[in-house]
Amino acid sequence: QIQAFVFDLDGVITDTAKFHFIAWQKLAQRLGFDIDHEFNERLKGVGRMDSLNLILQHGGVILTDEQKDKEAAQKNDEYVELIADMSAADLLPGAREALESVRGAGLKTALASASKNAPAILARLGISDLFDTVVDANLVVNGKPDPEIFLKAAAQLGVSPNACIGVEDAVAGVQSIKNAGMYAIGIGDARVLTRADAVIDGLHQFDVNRFIVKD
Ligand code: BG6
Ligand code: MG
Repeated sequence: QIQAFVFDLDGVITDTAKFHFIAWQKLAQRLGFDIDHEFNERLKGVGRMDSLNLILQHGGVILTDEQKDKEAAQKNDEYVELIADMSAADLLPGAREALESVRGAGLKTALASASKNAPAILARLGISDLFDTVVDANLVVNGKPDPEIFLKAAAQLGVSPNACIGVEDAVAGVQSIKNAGMYAIGIGDARVLTRADAVIDGLHQFDVNRFIVKD
């Protein structure tokens, strides 16, 4: 019997990829190269430092750990400035309704986000109170596809992982859910999210009754 849903944030509830792209592109240009939207796809669901390493590899640039910390901090400052204007208008279609329908069905909700900015974004979107618990990148050691973040969300809810359903848009995120032993709903393209148990275009297609067993 399903007892909880664990949602990813970026790409599921709101589209922050465009803001990350702007800030990463500025960083790349500071270092003398460009990234494009196709490359940006590879950064979805990937944590800050892992993203930076992928970008540096893409540009053929080698930095010291100290330089990396400085560049990552500057990228984040720029990103934080870009998300400062976010509001409920930045919720993806059906996101609020999906969260409300899960709670309305008597189930719990958790957030499992690779972003350290997740709590601030939830506050801007006006949906902090729709989550029973939040796990962000500050609280875990291993990034997706490691199951740690989804397992921690289940533990904080006090629900067994196999009674949870995870919702993710990134390949690494779906892998993280499956590695945690949960049912996985993918958001996006079924040909890309091959490990997902079900795939929908977006939360506007989410129907809680399709996924929970009723007695
Ligand atoms: C993920 C995003 O949710 O969080 C990635 O999909 C992002 O694009 C990562 O790099 C880390 O975010 P932050 O806010 O901690 O830099
Ligand atoms: Mg995502």
